Amino acid sequence: MFDGTIWFLIIGLTIVHGSNWVWQCEDGYCKRESGQTERDGYSALKLCQLVCSNYLNIWPYPTGAVKSSKELVNINTKSIIFHYNGPTETVAYLTEITKYFEGHLKKDEPFSCEENLYNLKITFTPLCKEITSNLETNESYTLTLDSIGNEVNVNIIAPTVFGVRHGLETLSQILVSHNDDGSKCLSTLSNVQITDQPKYPHRGLLIDTARNYLSVDTIKKQIDGMAASKLNVLHWHLTDSQSFPFVSVRLPNMTKYGAYSSKKIYTPENIKDLIQYAEYRGIRIIIEIDGPSHAGMGWQWGPEAGLGDLAVCINKQPWRSFCVQPPCGQLNPVNEKLYIILRNLYSDITDISPDRRMFHMGGDEVFIPCWNSTPEILKHLRGKPLNEKTYLDLWAGYQRKNLDAYDTAIGHKNTSIVVWTSHLTQPEFIKNYLPNDRYIIQTWVPESDNDLITDLIKLGYKLIVSTKDRWYLDHGFWGTTNYYKWKTVYENPIYEKYTKAILGGEVCMWGELVDDSNIDSRIWPRAAAAAERMWSDPVTTADYAQTRFFAHRERLIERKISAEAVVPQWCAENEGECHSYL
Ligand SMILES: *[C@@H]1O[C@H](CO)[C@@H](O)[C@H](O)[C@H]1NC(C)=O
Ligand SMILES: *[C@@H]1O[C@H](CO)[C@@H](O)[C@H](O)[C@H]1NC(C)=O
Ligand SMILES: *[C@@H]1O[C@H](CO)[C@@H](O)[C@H](O)[C@H]1NC(C)=O
Repeated sequence: MFDGTIWFLIIGLTIVHGSNWVWQCEDGYCKRESGQTERDGYSALKLCQLVCSNYLNIWPYPTGAVKSSKELVNINTKSIIFHYNGPTETVAYLTEITKYFEGHLKKDEPFSCEENLYNLKITFTPLCKEITSNLETNESYTLTLDSIGNEVNVNIIAPTVFGVRHGLETLSQILVSHNDDGSKCLSTLSNVQITDQPKYPHRGLLIDTARNYLSVDTIKKQIDGMAASKLNVLHWHLTDSQSFPFVSVRLPNMTKYGAYSSKKIYTPENIKDLIQYAEYRGIRIIIEIDGPSHAGMGWQWGPEAGLGDLAVCINKQPWRSFCVQPPCGQLNPVNEKLYIILRNLYSDITDISPDRRMFHMGGDEVFIPCWNSTPEILKHLRGKPLNEKTYLDLWAGYQRKNLDAYDTAIGHKNTSIVVWTSHLTQPEFIKNYLPNDRYIIQTWVPESDNDLITDLIKLGYKLIVSTKDRWYLDHGFWGTTNYYKWKTVYENPIYEKYTKAILGGEVCMWGELVDDSNIDSRIWPRAAAAAERMWSDPVTTADYAQTRFFAHRERLIERKISAEAVVPQWCAENEGECHSYL
């Protein structure tokens, strides 16, 4: 009943000057043609794509059934009604996501489309009252859209508000605003049914605010990009040896000694604001305080305060002898006062976010020659052989006390602790040191190092995978590293091989060479390619996804995220004509 001709009746296109091109849907591609010819077409590429592209042009594509008509209808933007149907606890959340959704619709100039307008009624039905998310949160949703009389009725039903949010995001992607001959219209399809849920529960982006500071607004923009792409974890690498921007109320010296300036800091209010902002976009923030390595600035004040050295090798030169990156610094595992300081620091963090279910303790790139050259530590180890086992024991002892400090601060032992793969997490050592019911391992090995992943899974660990030679977005700008094109990011094969033990993954934007000025384009749209890998886990290649991907990049631009260009506009507008060019 829906053949490709009905839409002519509905939007009745007339093409005049200023609108040179129209698009025809042919063999699954939108082909651009001159609007002066006899044949009419869609007046905007994205209108054509809504009808013509796979999965209604949705990014990431839904994993369940997608059914739709090919008939377009125009929405009366002055008559959009929301109806909340669910536990009262969810109303505040739903009100917020409604505002966010409306923000996306009412861009630029007002809508002026006047013909055959439909009123839009959107009903949200979350079935549970929970309004915070974790690994077990059910993010599924069903979306149905029906046109009856002059009404378009949308129903989004989901176990949780997070599923409702994803459904609303999907809806915003199939509501297309476009200019027809000077009048702005909002159009959608007359009938749609979608069921959808993610393949992986942990779909993350790492940002690093220690190498270079990022403003709160810049972080919010990344959250917006994540929300548009249904990523759900912002991993915040908050501190490192270069700077300590986290304002600890109990330990004001940390930023006094560690922040780049009194402006380049994050107050508890900033962080609470970001956590809330993210939650309304379906995203949880996981904070990382890296240690024992990657700790220097901020930790210098111990001796003067009568606490001894909290960290050692701080700024020590020549740096290559004491760390992997300047400035050096590593926490002092033999100073018992360190653990009191850590406990206070963690109390400040759990005060900000008391229901925390996951916390990241870093643990990467511990540099033994630093400890090995520190008299206080050598004194402590006197009588023991200075071999690998002794240093691993020392490191693991630090980790045990560090964990105790965290558990004491939060008042229970229920938080999952994430650490990076390191010497300590090698399959031959890890079982002695890190219990698999407490620790989640984030792997950052290259794709070729599959064995480590297999081995850790066999040992019963749950993993977050950040394939270094595909998902390290900082690569390609330093040393011998390569830049990974969006297709390389998209086609990460790790996920095809394993399932349950892999919780998901994270693309990592290490901060050495990015700040407010360029981070958008370094992250986007490549992080969105990873987002589809983690949500949909496609068996198809990037070529099959590319027209949708190009369209999603435009969507990010519309949302004020400076996502880099991935193709000449001509290729985006002439689908199928630039195969294997980029
Ligand atoms: C989420 O809930 C939906 C609807 O009840 C169900 O079909 C689906 O299996 C659930 N997903 C998970 C991962 O439990
Ligand atoms: C902060 O550091 C100074 C040394 O610069 C020290 O005297 C003071 O006790 C420290 N403050 C706190 C609250 O630990
Ligand atoms: C910790 O987990 C246990 C077992 O699942 C649960 O009974 C307890 O309520 C949890 N405690 C907190 C504070 O979350």
